[in-house]
Amino acid sequence: MAISKTLIMSILYITLTLVLSSLAAAEDPDFYRYISPKSLGLKKKQLAHLHFYFHDINSGPKPTAVNIARAPTSNANTSFFGLLSMADDPLTVGPELGSKQIGKGQGLYGFADQNELGLVMLINMVFTEGKFNGSTLSLLGRNMILAAERELPIVGGSGVFRFARGYAHLRTNTLDTKTGNAVVEYNIYVFHY
Ligand SMILES: *[C@@H]1O[C@H](CO)[C@@H](O)[C@H](O)[C@H]1NC(C)=O
Ligand SMILES: *[C@@H]1O[C@H](CO)[C@@H](O)[C@H](O)[C@H]1NC(C)=O
Repeated sequence: MAISKTLIMSILYITLTLVLSSLAAAEDPDFYRYISPKSLGLKKKQLAHLHFYFHDINSGPKPTAVNIARAPTSNANTSFFGLLSMADDPLTVGPELGSKQIGKGQGLYGFADQNELGLVMLINMVFTEGKFNGSTLSLLGRNMILAAERELPIVGGSGVFRFARGYAHLRTNTLDTKTGNAVVEYNIYVFHY
């Protein structure tokens, strides 16, 4: 009698231990580990300076940015609060649209300020030339478009720009207040490997 009681207790104990350890394994699955930057081929961190012009064309036969949503109040509101646009804007080396194109600025910008002309920008800079061909930089920030100069964070990148961090300095080159067409000068300073 005493032996079988001990046996039952042992079986219970082993079963409980197995159940608990499998639960613990489920809570802490082995899905990560720490590796050396070298194992990803990451060498020296470097600072790149990119200079180009961003063409936002809202009117004419070939617009590069289109309104995709608006709040019922967006039109009447002088700050266009609630208006959202999708852009696929050419990036060129000079301020003229005909100058050499080095990529596109693709993404969303929305009027996010109820009182002033202030955009929230979520744009991927997609490069199509030279060393940066196929690489992207992701920009996310606040753009007060009537200010002489603006600074927007670069929050990441892909390809050559993996692990990128930095900022974009914006200056309006030309702005047509009737059409909204704008050419904006970008100076981007970005750390990458
Ligand atoms: C714009 O709209 C917001 C929200 O509807 C409102 O609070 C604000 O006063 C409006 N601004 C103007 C200039 O009409
Ligand atoms: C950029 O990369 C694409 C895809 O690999 C290629 O087709 C294109 O020719 C490249 N452009 C330049 C200018 O190197």
